[in-house]
Amino acid sequence: MTLYRASVLDVPGDPFADDPGQALRAELDGGLLVRAERIVARGAYQELRREHGGEEVVDLRGGVLLPGFVDTHVHFPQIRAIGGLGMPLLDWLQRCALPEEERLAERSYAEAVAGEFLAGLSSAGTTTALVFGSHFADAMDALFTAAATSGLRITAGQVLSDRVLPPSLLTTAGRGLAEGRALMQRWHGHGRLRYAVTPRFSLSASEPLLEVCEELLAEPGTWFTTHINENTAEVDQVATYFPARAHYLDTYSHHNLITDRSVLAHNVHATDQELEVMAAAGAWAAHCPTSNAALGSGLFPLRRHLRYGVGVALGSDVGGGTGFSLLKEGLQAYFGQQLLGPAGQPLGPAHLLYLSTRAGALALGMAEEVGDLSVGKAFDAVWLRPPARSTLDIVLDHAADAPDMVAKIFALGTPADVAGVWVGGQRLTPPQDNPSASTHSRPQEAA
Ligand code: GUN
Ligand code: ZN
Repeated sequence: MTLYRASVLDVPGDPFADDPGQALRAELDGGLLVRAERIVARGAYQELRREHGGEEVVDLRGGVLLPGFVDTHVHFPQIRAIGGLGMPLLDWLQRCALPEEERLAERSYAEAVAGEFLAGLSSAGTTTALVFGSHFADAMDALFTAAATSGLRITAGQVLSDRVLPPSLLTTAGRGLAEGRALMQRWHGHGRLRYAVTPRFSLSASEPLLEVCEELLAEPGTWFTTHINENTAEVDQVATYFPARAHYLDTYSHHNLITDRSVLAHNVHATDQELEVMAAAGAWAAHCPTSNAALGSGLFPLRRHLRYGVGVALGSDVGGGTGFSLLKEGLQAYFGQQLLGPAGQPLGPAHLLYLSTRAGALALGMAEEVGDLSVGKAFDAVWLRPPARSTLDIVLDHAADAPDMVAKIFALGTPADVAGVWVGGQRLTPPQDNPSASTHSRPQEAA
């Protein structure tokens, strides 16, 4: 067994339902005793030390230990497309995202991107993710192959589209079904991997292809994810493709795709009717605040989601979003709600930590396993230790209390502050220490 000594901060309850002042749990000189992959005792370090004197101690003082972050919406093939600013969704797809996604047709390209992508997640402190995949089955095989050795908990699936997008990204119902089944058979339930049925959005998915999604989702334990209500031009176009449907959500629910295994990304322009249907189904929204701001999609109606009882977690939406850090997403979520004025949902430190950890675990049906650092949970954790005399280091030294520490972490923390990441009790190798890490020069330097 190993005894970790750290300032341990987590949110084991729901700060939107409970008293947010009580929701944050803090053990400022805490101990977590870990046997194999699980936390078996938790408390004040000195007490645990007395009770378990012979165990190895890992000293993580000088920073904070949080549950590993859970990213509920992040695109594998878009890491190299991050930072395409100044365009609304449909232009950005056409000019930035889709040309890059077409390059994953080549297996070796997909393998390189998979390595970069998984390193991006872990170096930001993300230990669990619902990953929007590639349109190419071979690229998905490359991602799953790399994910299986990464240690990360990855739920992902091949993206399906059969219209609107560039021809190389399109499939057919028959091929989508066959490739999805083959990937599922190989990877669903393999170690920490699961399969997610993933039509890109109903704008690019015909009725027969959505029927295929329903067939694939019949496999127990699979998840469902897609985009919805992100941008008003997109919402209008979906309505013209589906004149018989009551609303955007209905394009999915008509095919029984909206259940408590569904995570819907964005939902910025949700109607009351749609929120009612989502709540009744137990479907979750993946709120992607930096993407919504970068693409000008709009300010997320968090209060309305909560009022209807729709669960909300965070997604980085790389590459529409501006990076892998869920700290940045939490901060941007806070900004967005501030900017909504009276219609906004005030967010405090406990809310931000909850949204980036436990809420994601709930959305992915993994809250029995991960999302907080309670006894019985897997030891999935991120150790943030800012560089000495960095601004975050200074303000943490002067924080008034635990909530103030968390507020400062969200205000100032970045992947540069991630000093260690554990999944299932195993410490992940930092990408910079990985001998296979790329050292290639930039194209403009080679020229
Ligand atoms: N809608 C359909 N595809 C995408 C995508 O790749 N990113 C975002 N943000 N929205 C989408
Ligand atoms: Zn997305």
